[in-house]
Amino acid sequence: MAKSKTALRTHYCGELRREHVGQVVTIAGWVNRRRDHGKLIFIDLRDREGIVQTVFNPEVSDKAHSIAVELRSEYVVRVKGKVQPRPKGTENPKLPTGEVELIVEEAELLNKAKTPPFYINEEVEVDEALRLKYRYLDLRRERMQRNLILRHRVVKFMRDFLDAKGFLEIETPIMIKSTPEGARDYLVPSRIYPGKFYALPQSPQQLKQLLMVAGYDKYFQIARCFRDEDLRADRQPEFTQLDLEMSFVDEDDVLNLMEELFTSLVETVTPQFKLIKPFPRLSWAEVMERYGSDKPDLRFGLEMADLSDIFAGSEFSVFRTVLAEGGGIKGFAAPNCAVYSRSQLGELTEFVRSRGAKGLITMALDGKPEQKIADLTTDRVRSIVAKFLTREQVVEMARRLKANMGDLLLIVADKPKIVDAVLSALRSEMSQRLKLADPKLLAFAFIQDFPLFDWNEEEKRWDSMHHPFTSPHPEDILLLDTEPGKVRARHYDFVCNGSEISSGSIRIHNRELQEKIFGILGYSKEETEARFEHLLEALESGAPPHGGIAPGIDRLMMLLTGESNIREVIAFPKNQNAVDLMFDSPSPVSTAQLRELHLKLLDES
Ligand code: AMO
Ligand code: AMP
Repeated sequence: MAKSKTALRTHYCGELRREHVGQVVTIAGWVNRRRDHGKLIFIDLRDREGIVQTVFNPEVSDKAHSIAVELRSEYVVRVKGKVQPRPKGTENPKLPTGEVELIVEEAELLNKAKTPPFYINEEVEVDEALRLKYRYLDLRRERMQRNLILRHRVVKFMRDFLDAKGFLEIETPIMIKSTPEGARDYLVPSRIYPGKFYALPQSPQQLKQLLMVAGYDKYFQIARCFRDEDLRADRQPEFTQLDLEMSFVDEDDVLNLMEELFTSLVETVTPQFKLIKPFPRLSWAEVMERYGSDKPDLRFGLEMADLSDIFAGSEFSVFRTVLAEGGGIKGFAAPNCAVYSRSQLGELTEFVRSRGAKGLITMALDGKPEQKIADLTTDRVRSIVAKFLTREQVVEMARRLKANMGDLLLIVADKPKIVDAVLSALRSEMSQRLKLADPKLLAFAFIQDFPLFDWNEEEKRWDSMHHPFTSPHPEDILLLDTEPGKVRARHYDFVCNGSEISSGSIRIHNRELQEKIFGILGYSKEETEARFEHLLEALESGAPPHGGIAPGIDRLMMLLTGESNIREVIAFPKNQNAVDLMFDSPSPVSTAQLRELHLKLLDES
């Protein structure tokens, strides 16, 4: 059966082309626009595949024409008629169906529609709350259809690719037990067991590892994950991962698979994008130093460098104090920005202050890019710190920041974490101001050799940088007892254009090592047993070496559609306050339902 054929139609509206001229077809869809030219009425009819112009002429069918008189936007109609070439000069090159029109012989009104709360047939800015409340109407809009159809193609490509590589798609349960991935769990109370709860998986992490123990050595799943965390433009409380795991592999096996998958995916499904091939593989230490971020946007330079030693001997007391307190100084060069006005510099200072920096030192190197930095004279350096530095020190600074004459050096001093966070945000800001990032480029890269642990200053304990199942580097195992902060992990991230697309690692497959890691993370023996005994026992039952990764499909779709908000690539998302405006959920439940679940609400009053 042709993909368009159903009991009520023979073709999609958007499918009709010159090759259909002369055929009598039946189409069904929504009224996109109605134009009444007195005698002739033109109805643009829309379905998922596009729009076609239909012509109601009373001389062809008086009955059909009288139906057309009544049609309004979003009415559902079915029409039968002959496909004709449009009269010369009336073709519409913007529409794929623009060379033809349908001369209606029969029409049937299938359903009326209330006036929609916003335009569906025009790409206009609509209040997001309204869009989400009437999502079924919003999803009729072309842009949303394009996004969801592309999402289908992407997921289909992934499934076919992995199937061809011998992967098995295996579903895992949605009601499980709390898994540590760093966010809060969504809990489901048990009716049968008073006071007990299931947790929704933050990811299928443990389940996929257990599948490896079970011998299903290449697993994948398009997996729904649930995390109760603060929402951002690229976060949803429920989202989708391409979750995968493999046995008997090392890092390169996983990364090579990802590189092949994403290269062929982009080249096949979204060939309008360019790629940097091969995908760069960079160490965590290197990207932190050069970009101040573990998810750098590699579409442009603006690389940072450490300037601490240059300022160490200077008389600039602000920076000396920072250094004396164990802080650092880094900067980068903004090309051709020496001409920035006082107010532009003020904006940049405000930008870094609002992100936690104490201030911003700017240094303008007045001149033209063709003039040599080596010939720099001090009268060409404009900065409040110029008087504290020698000519040689400025030249050295420019050399490290790969600056040219005419550039503006941007420098921040603070605790290293703050310097990196602030300068990395400023780097993105400058790339936007200077339009440095090519929107047609997808700069994928792998980041490797992350530290295993991250020191949690507030709670004075070690956290996993990724998750507790990540294997330490074999050479660093001895450091676990002495300097946990120096232990490197067999953890890799997959990033693109400043966004973390995915994380993964080679896992621990040995009980003693896993217990040791739980211990360093501060879990007591009892807690470890209560939460992880199933996994620890599995590790003692013939667990193969294994590893995997889990690209976030929603974030990937944001990149492939060019959307800056994750909600634009999900059919029925929650809003930024985790509310489903269409269902009005979360919502109260009856006392009877609560009683059945053995729950009583705390009286907040
Ligand atoms: P991680 O927690 O890094 O790893 O998640 C992997 C990827 O999932 C996406 N992601 C999200 N997308 C939308 N909304 C969210 N709230 C959200 N949280 C995460 C990101 C992220 O890179 N089990 C491990 C993977 C593994 O080790 O194999 C895991 O879940 O794109
Ligand atoms: P202040 O002494 O706070 O008036 O700062 C003097 C200059 O140094 C101002 O231009 C500030 O923006 C800048 N400044 C102060 N603290 C820092 C810092 N930690 N990093 C970079 N610039 C700073």
